[in-house]
Amino acid sequence: MMMHWLREGLRLARLPGQALALAGSARAFCDNPLLGSDRLNRLGLHARRVALAQGAAAARRRWLAGGVSAADRATFDRDGIVVKRDFLPPERFARLRAELLGLRAPAREHAQGDVLNRLLALPPAVLGGLPETRAVLASGAWRGLLAYVAASRMPPLVFVQSIFAQHREAPPDPQVVLHSDTFFPMVKAWLYLDDVGEGEGPFQYVAGSHRASPARLAWEQARSLDWRGADAMSRRGSLRVRPEELAGLGLGPAVQHVVPANTLVVADTYGFHARTQGAAGTVRIALWGQAHSTPFAPVPLPSPRRLLGGREAVLAWALQDWLAARGLAHRHWVDRGVRGAGDPPGA
Ligand SMILES: [Fe+2]
Repeated sequence: MMMHWLREGLRLARLPGQALALAGSARAFCDNPLLGSDRLNRLGLHARRVALAQGAAAARRRWLAGGVSAADRATFDRDGIVVKRDFLPPERFARLRAELLGLRAPAREHAQGDVLNRLLALPPAVLGGLPETRAVLASGAWRGLLAYVAASRMPPLVFVQSIFAQHREAPPDPQVVLHSDTFFPMVKAWLYLDDVGEGEGPFQYVAGSHRASPARLAWEQARSLDWRGADAMSRRGSLRVRPEELAGLGLGPAVQHVVPANTLVVADTYGFHARTQGAAGTVRIALWGQAHSTPFAPVPLPSPRRLLGGREAVLAWALQDWLAARGLAHRHWVDRGVRGAGDPPGA
């Protein structure tokens, strides 16, 4: 009886924090009993958060529209993705590619299914030796487009990303299933250093799936009520969608973006997207950035992360190590010391 009251007391003590989380980016149905509540979701809690976040993002994008060309804005507003071939003049791209493929930097690796994802961090000490990379990241063309798609002035976290396909015997990578990352707009961007052919794991995206149409909101509402029977990622708020559901949402099939080197792909990953499974032995290397916003803010807010001066990634890794060493967190990203983007896995 005593234990029952203790558990009940703890549950009640957590409620204010869980209620507060509804005003932020919390998304996991399985972690927050309010987000996962059938009663609240029947009243439209989840779908209402999606709709509110879309409205707020649209308002913030009006503030950020001046940083993007009218053509890119129109493409993004229609499709949710912008693909810019020949992003840099050839000689600048050649310098960027040489800089990043020659780089050795603090590396972390994360295996998802049979795919190995390696990130090289670019803190100021590393970026200082990479003038062309620094110029790209400081350019209006990169910053303006990423800010508009993210609907946020938050500086993106940027890495050199290497995706090694089928590097081990394991179930398939969960990221090859079409999904939405979270309930609100966010950006992911890849400037590819090499051609991405059909068998090399191209990014796929469902054009127009970044919009919370009435059909999409009805789908979100239904998913918020059947999450208990769903896969683990959907239970955590990153909803998986079956290709046969797309037509009912007024959407076409996913399109694979097979693109040459020096293409910048910028997508709102609230929209449905996936990696395509690459052939064994292939590696896809890109300058990669991601950012999200404060979902319900009506105007773009200055980010306190600027105070960290580009050290966010290495600080986050250090914090994760500290927590993991004390059994307080799971270490997803394994420290691999100093490595190059193309070094073979396990070497
Ligand atoms: Fe994703």
